[in-house]
Parts: sequence; C-alpha cells; structure tokens
Amino acid sequence: MLVMNKVKKLKGVVTVPGDKSISHRAIMFTALSEGRSTILNFLESEDCLNTKKAFLQMGIKFTSRGKALIVYGKGLHGLKASVKPIDCGNSGTTMRLISGILAGQEFTSILTGDKYLRRRPMKRVITPLRSMGAKIEAVHDELAPLKIYGGYLQGIEYTLPVASAQVKSCILLAGLYADGKTSVIEPVSTRDHTEKMLAYLGANIKKQGRKATVQGNIGLQGKKIIVPGDISSAAFLLVAASIIPGSRILIRKVGINPTRNGIITILQKMGARIKVKNKRNFGAEPVADLEVRYAALRGITVTGKIIPNIIDEIPVLAVAAALARGKTVIRGAKELRVKETDRIKSMASQLKKMGAKIEERKDGLAIYGSAILQGAIVDSFGDHRTAMSLAIAAMTAEGQTVIKDTACINTSFPGFEKLLRKISAW
Ligand code: S3P
Repeated sequence: MLVMNKVKKLKGVVTVPGDKSISHRAIMFTALSEGRSTILNFLESEDCLNTKKAFLQMGIKFTSRGKALIVYGKGLHGLKASVKPIDCGNSGTTMRLISGILAGQEFTSILTGDKYLRRRPMKRVITPLRSMGAKIEAVHDELAPLKIYGGYLQGIEYTLPVASAQVKSCILLAGLYADGKTSVIEPVSTRDHTEKMLAYLGANIKKQGRKATVQGNIGLQGKKIIVPGDISSAAFLLVAASIIPGSRILIRKVGINPTRNGIITILQKMGARIKVKNKRNFGAEPVADLEVRYAALRGITVTGKIIPNIIDEIPVLAVAAALARGKTVIRGAKELRVKETDRIKSMASQLKKMGAKIEERKDGLAIYGSAILQGAIVDSFGDHRTAMSLAIAAMTAEGQTVIKDTACINTSFPGFEKLLRKISAW
C-alpha cells in the first residue's frame, strides 16, 4: 500500500524508466535476430522481466555489461521448446506478441499468466493466427492458458476489428514465419514500435497508411537498441506538475513517437504548459526532453483517432480533468474495460471517493472539474496505472490518502514512489 499526503510543489530534473512497449519488443526481436545485440535502458519491470524469462526458457542467453543488457540472438529458427509453460504474469503484451512468434515454431508451447491476464480477451489473436494456419487451444476457446501448436503458416491480409498494437504486432511476428506476405490493416493508427524496430533490424516491412506488410522468411540482424524513457510513465509527472501550483520539472530522454505522444497534445489543449525540447533520435525512435510547469487546466472532449494513442494515459488524464475548470468527456475508449482491470469503472469509483465529480459511461468518462479532492482510502484493484493515477490525485488532496494494493506499480514503473518523493516539496 502507498500512503500519500498533499504536496506543496514539484521541482527537479528527472528521467523515467525505459519504455515498456519498446523494452518487450527489444527482447523479443533481438532474440530472433542473428548475432549479438545490446539493449540500453531496458525497463527492468516485472512485465518486461517476464518477457526476458520466456526467452531464457526457450534457450536464449542474456548477459549484462555495466548497464547494458546483451542478448545472444539465435535467428528466426533458433528457439527451442520450453520445458515448462511460459508464465507471462500480468503482461498482455508478452502473451499476445509471443503468441505470434510461437505459432511459427516447430514445437508446441503453453502460455499462461496471472488471474488478471487469464481473464483478458485472447480471441483477438487466436482468430487471425488460425486463419494463417495455426492450431491453438484456449479455455472456452478465448482465454489463457493458450496451447499453441507451432507449424506451417501462410501470409494473410487481415483487417483488425479493434485498434490494437498488440494484435497487429502478433500478426506481423507470425508473418515473419509465413509463406509470402502478411498485411495488417488497422481501423485507426496504433503504436508502431513493432514496424519501426523490425525495419531497423533488417526485416522487409512496409507501411502504407494504416496498412503494414511484412515479407516472410527474411532474417533479422542483431544491433544496438537504446530504449527511450516511457511517455506513459512520464504522463504521471506531466499531469502532477500541471495540477500542483508552483511546480516546474524537466523530464529528460522521453520517447515522443507520434503514435504515443497524444497525451502532450491533449494536455496542451487543456492549457498545460509543456515544452518539447532537444528533439533527437534513439535509433528508430524519436525522443525529447519535456519541460512542464503548473497551469490552470480547462476541460475538453477527447474522442476519435487520438484514443488508441493515449489509451494508457486516460486514467491519469481523468485526474487532470477532475481538477480542470469545466467538463471533460472521454468517449470511444471502451478498450479501457479490458486492460489489466476495467479502468473506466475503477477510476470513476475511486476518484469519486476522493470527492471528484465523475460519471462512468459505457465507453468512457464524464468528469465535472474544479474538484477539491479529499484524502481517502482507495483501491488500485491490482492495476499499476490505476495505482499511480490515484497517487497523483492524492498529491493534491487535503489530508492523507491510502492506496491499497500498490505492489503492481512494479509492472511498469519501478522507483515511482522514490522519484515522486525526490521532486516533492511539502
Ligand atoms: C501495447 C498496446 C496497447 C497498450 C499496452 C501496450 C503494446 O494495448 O494498452 O499497454 O505494447 O503493444 P492494446 O494493443 O490492447 O491496445
């Protein structure tokens, strides 16, 4: 549990841990590459360590040199069957992306996860993989554990029914093993780290608008990958500094990939004072330093194409909206209900306990701002982003807030509490 008190202001220069999505992909794709790769700023969080462990179980060797993680890739066909089931823990990215890789192997695998992951929808990857020729068994044909019988795959052209980078990536990874070309068409653009990193490692992958096409059976080459700071983690600090009067912080080396940086645009539309400084590239990914100062925020309507771009940041956006002047409406975000937990329900119920005027909608939230939050006993329900969002709310609340079930923060942001304490003045 986390005990939080009101903070006077935030000040300092910080970095946030490495990007979770990119760290997962860095392990997976370098393991499938020929030769040695070096990963810098890999996110040592529970989710990403589960991905690393999965590849360790499939015969990939890892060492470290100083702060760098070295991966000894074995090429597309170098994995071996894991003796034990692969436990993806809480990580949807691990399970959904690895499913695509395992469908193309010459062995059978079992993927399982914690009680939250075993409740999350897997039909969305099972259906396209089956149409490529994969044989997969699942609980009630839709939930993990998944038993994947690897084998021959053929390329497909698939239109995603829901905008999901995990599903897109799963199909493209299976496409590395498939005969011919595999194309994925997305209804709305989602994070494109898979396309960028596969191209960087030498895959034949092309993007035409919302269609990504990969050519099967072309090998990858090991390289050096520098993981940018996670903008989804930086988002907690962007909101915190925006809502706590007198705050000013600089967050260095944050990934600003255009498919991920919507939170900056949205907060700026609400009146936030965020400056994007010193833009540069870490390999295939753009990064920048983000300077943020307190500003009086106003409510807005958030819907449409931006939603997949900010999907992981909506819980903390709800906190910003609770303190902004006027009404904020978030629509078209029903995917939030099938994340690690139902984040629409939990953010509405827990922020309400703290005095926010917030209504749960079928596909989003309506938040009537200008709240003066009160300390309360609130619950993360085991969801890292809910836990951290409530911690940010607590920094503006009168009195003490107790957030229950916060060990989950380690799934994406180890050192979260320590970092907040470092930049807080009381
Ligand atoms: C992710 C994609 C998103 C996101 C998740 C990470 C990824 O999930 O919410 O935290 O790394 O591809 P969906 O693909 O389910 O939208």
